[in-house]
Amino acid sequence: MSAKKTPSVMLMLIALFVGSTLYFSGESIYRSQATEQARTVADLVENIGKWASQYRGLWVKDSKGKQIDLGSHLDTLVVTPSVANNSEITPEEANDIMQFHLKNPALIQREISDLTEKSASTTKFRITSDKYMNPKNAPNAFETHAINEIRKTNARELTKVENGELHYARALVATEACMRCHDTAAKAPAAVRDLYPDQGYGYEVGKVAGVIAVTIPYQYSPQTLLNGFDLWAWLSFAGLLLVLAIAFRSKSSK
Ligand code: HEC
Repeated sequence: MSAKKTPSVMLMLIALFVGSTLYFSGESIYRSQATEQARTVADLVENIGKWASQYRGLWVKDSKGKQIDLGSHLDTLVVTPSVANNSEITPEEANDIMQFHLKNPALIQREISDLTEKSASTTKFRITSDKYMNPKNAPNAFETHAINEIRKTNARELTKVENGELHYARALVATEACMRCHDTAAKAPAAVRDLYPDQGYGYEVGKVAGVIAVTIPYQYSPQTLLNGFDLWAWLSFAGLLLVLAIAFRSKSSK
């Protein structure tokens, strides 16, 4: 190799090194941002559950005559305003009969998950368990893997990038409150048992019962990196190249 060629080879090597450092540190920032986004969604799902739990679920009103699509619910309460003072119900009064249907926190979370699934939102979530009640909530391959890994390693969360998506799972730990419905079928409220006679039971307090799973689009490429560059990033990059060029010029002219 001639003395003149060495600096340009070195310069190319340095450019390659700088380029790949940028690319990989860019990816690590991209990934931690995507993970942070998934955590925020999981926080929100947890908070929806907590919100509904403080009222021990929510009663949804369904007036007779104006039927709404209720989906599944755990309990029904019939309220007839005039029945208390009059045992005969006229047809008009029958229209006043109100029915309330109980949605428990998991049902509410699932209905919002279903809505998100159907919406234009690119971020999806679900709550799932290997001991599931509703077959619609059965875990997929990633979720099953996550439940097993989280149990084995005591980790709180797990992520995986696959096919342009970031999959995130957060441990759902069973508390005393869950046991009312998820201990054994015999101990569960009749309304739960009626819906799910033989599955979704066997939780243990303090143990991982399932996961909150979040899916986020993950498309990292050199283009993504460049799109993320602002004026300052370009200026400092240009500055770096300038310094390198000057350093090599003065060296090779010696
Ligand atoms: C009042 C009864 C009740 C309580 C209390 C309850 N659940 Fe559930 N849970 C249900 C029902 C009913 C479903 C099925 C919902 C559906 O159809 O999507 C369910 C579903 C779930 C699912 C989705 C997988 C499946 O079984 O379909 C998970 C995970 C879950 N519950 C975890 C918990 C945890 C953790 C707690 C305690 C913090 C808890 N549940 C408390 C009744 C309950």
